[in-house]
Amino acid sequence: MTILQLIPYDILTADPARIMAPLGFFAGMPRLTEGAPTARLLMVADNLSQEHVINGFHQVAVPASELPPTMRWYKSLYEDFLRQTVQTTRYMKLYLIMRSRLDDQSLIRLLSTYGVRSEPLNEPIPLPFQIGDPDWNRVHADGQTYAVIRSKLQQTGAAHPRMLHRMFALDFPVWAALDIFTYTTGSAMKMLQQKQISALYERGIGQAADDAANVTSTVKGLRYELNRVGAALHTIRFSVVVGASNPGLLNQRLEMVRGTTGIEMEGWESNAGHMKKIFSAEPPTDTDGAIITSTGLSVLTGSALSYRRRTNTTGALAGVDQNQAPVVINIFDDKNPSYNVVILGQTGAGKTFATLLLMLRHLLMGVRLIVIDPQGNIDLNFLGDDVYHKSVLGTSAASINILDIVHDEIANQVEGVMAIFMMLGISTGSIIQRAILDEVLVDIYQPLWDRIDDHTDVPELGAVKQRLEQISADHGRSDQIRSEAGLLAYTLAPYVTGSRSALFGRQTTVDFSLDHPVTVFDISSLPKAKGKDSNLRAALLSILVADINQAIRNKRRRGDKVPILFFVDEMGILMREPVIASYISEEYKTARSRRVGMIVADQDLHSFLGPADESGLHHGVPMLANSAFQFIFLQQSGQKAIVREHFPDIPEAMISKLPLMSQGTCIAKLPDDLLQIAITASPFEQAVLSSRLQDKERAQKLMAQMVKETFETPIRQNGNGRQPTSEDIPIAL
Ligand SMILES: Nc1ncnc2c1ncn2[C@@H]1O[C@H](COP(=O)(O)OP(=O)(O)OP(=O)(O)O)[C@@H](O)[C@H]1O
Ligand SMILES: [Mg+2]
Repeated sequence: MTILQLIPYDILTADPARIMAPLGFFAGMPRLTEGAPTARLLMVADNLSQEHVINGFHQVAVPASELPPTMRWYKSLYEDFLRQTVQTTRYMKLYLIMRSRLDDQSLIRLLSTYGVRSEPLNEPIPLPFQIGDPDWNRVHADGQTYAVIRSKLQQTGAAHPRMLHRMFALDFPVWAALDIFTYTTGSAMKMLQQKQISALYERGIGQAADDAANVTSTVKGLRYELNRVGAALHTIRFSVVVGASNPGLLNQRLEMVRGTTGIEMEGWESNAGHMKKIFSAEPPTDTDGAIITSTGLSVLTGSALSYRRRTNTTGALAGVDQNQAPVVINIFDDKNPSYNVVILGQTGAGKTFATLLLMLRHLLMGVRLIVIDPQGNIDLNFLGDDVYHKSVLGTSAASINILDIVHDEIANQVEGVMAIFMMLGISTGSIIQRAILDEVLVDIYQPLWDRIDDHTDVPELGAVKQRLEQISADHGRSDQIRSEAGLLAYTLAPYVTGSRSALFGRQTTVDFSLDHPVTVFDISSLPKAKGKDSNLRAALLSILVADINQAIRNKRRRGDKVPILFFVDEMGILMREPVIASYISEEYKTARSRRVGMIVADQDLHSFLGPADESGLHHGVPMLANSAFQFIFLQQSGQKAIVREHFPDIPEAMISKLPLMSQGTCIAKLPDDLLQIAITASPFEQAVLSSRLQDKERAQKLMAQMVKETFETPIRQNGNGRQPTSEDIPIAL
């Protein structure tokens, strides 16, 4: 006996063709089943409550007892926030029950070829009751009364992809079963022939003649369907179980179900014993029911499969989706193809806010955070000095050496430094200048290369200038080489002894130990991104990113395995220079293997993708492909075309909303979902993360209050992990 749990998809975001895809599966059922070609699709309403979300968080959160006091306090605030805001969400669980010739894994693979995702049963099916007391057509159990109604044997009308959604969305739970029987082609033809013949002999008048004409035309239609490739004939019977605390309410609910299924239901309740059949682990044995083609069956089952509510609870809350369901995300879930995130959005749309919010909540899950803050307004002081470390770059206390060793290969290291020289306008990038710089840089790096982990005696730019001057004075060289070397030494001077030496020309004094759970690099005092100094900023930023990546590598070499989220805001300025863009893109691709999630944010795709290099490649394209999460906030109308081009699976209805998106709202592409999310923060997070002044003042007050409060919070226990058995399914009456 096979019971699989089917994984629904969202009709709002799915490819319309998906509804029809399982047609061949149903048509092929006689070849897949042992015994009668029958199957049951069991539909069970379940609730996702705030307790589930809180328990899910506890499964991945660091226990409070292991957190420093400030984080313990934040954790309890976050849990309070979950309790106050998470609403109960009703969703449908779907199960396929059949006597399959295939083992579970083969059936799962087969279903996936028909666009139906499924998994083995890994938890008991949530049933209305375990043991009931039958009373003809009612069952009493746990203080409730249950009844079951079934579909009529004859159905008219057409199936619609959303026909069951209204019933699923009722504000009381329903349990429904769709029993399916498949005719083999031969038996279907025979059955149709019989029906047609008996209709031909029906020579009555009035109603009887009409019915006969009806049957004749229906049979014609069915024959036509059967001749289509892959289609078959089926009978179906649909049953719905409803419960209520009193008979009056039960009757009301049954009427509501009759009115919302979109299927013609019998006007009376079936014998209670039928409930036991529905909830048994066996496929149906009855074969009578309404005749339906595989096409109609696909639409009907599609309407069950396409009612999707997100149910993931292990991770951190990002916000609520368009159905008010909580969106819980765990960036470091092993199943994710990468841990990277791309964030796009107009100025003020909420990129930085959303990113920091997700990061802070992941901090509670034991993730280490690194942030590059271009605006200098991130203030996480509430975390305390043990947790939070901030470096302000561009001061003499935090300078960066342009020659820092940030690549494992000497060739890449030399190329990286040359790219920065070009970015700064020190070198024109001519063949001869490149050759001279190559000679100088290799000369400098070669002796160091075997001691790659040792950063203490990295040369400074002065060493480059000195060697260039030596070449320029070397009469054994050609005049051209001497003059080019002299030129390079001259343009380098401001970076060694002149106005820019404080930024570039000294040993790195920035702390790259990454020893704190949260490190913020404030680069707001670096030259601004706009205007003539923008390249300075890009150059410094690229060395900073490279230095941080190298520091992470060194940490990993020493055996540190703590996952890291690394956020680079204002990504676009790094994407302008192809060598830098290619470096970043490569780091991005390999980040997963270092247990690093790189989060990059930018205003729009043009800026994020960067200009094309000589081979026509925009380095942002592979980055997009290597991100498991993409959040798109407000975009101007003019951006719709490029968004459409790079996100072909976002339906048009969502794309057209992009220019209307309000602050803090985004379209989110997650590894297994496509949603519209409103990012929701607690008042405390709002105060701490906001760049608005009045919020900052509030944050100060809240923090003062925190200091006063005690840090003790009880530690909660997680639920048991019992494995289900087939005992978990049948219902006893
Ligand atoms: N989800 C949200 N909930 C509450 N307030 C928000 C939310 N998102 C944004 N805000 C408010 O809007 C302000 C601007 O958002 P944010 O700084 O994240 O924009 P941004 O997209 O990063 O813009 P920029 O490109 O200018 O950096 C925040 O400081 C905060 O006050
Ligand atoms: Mg921002």
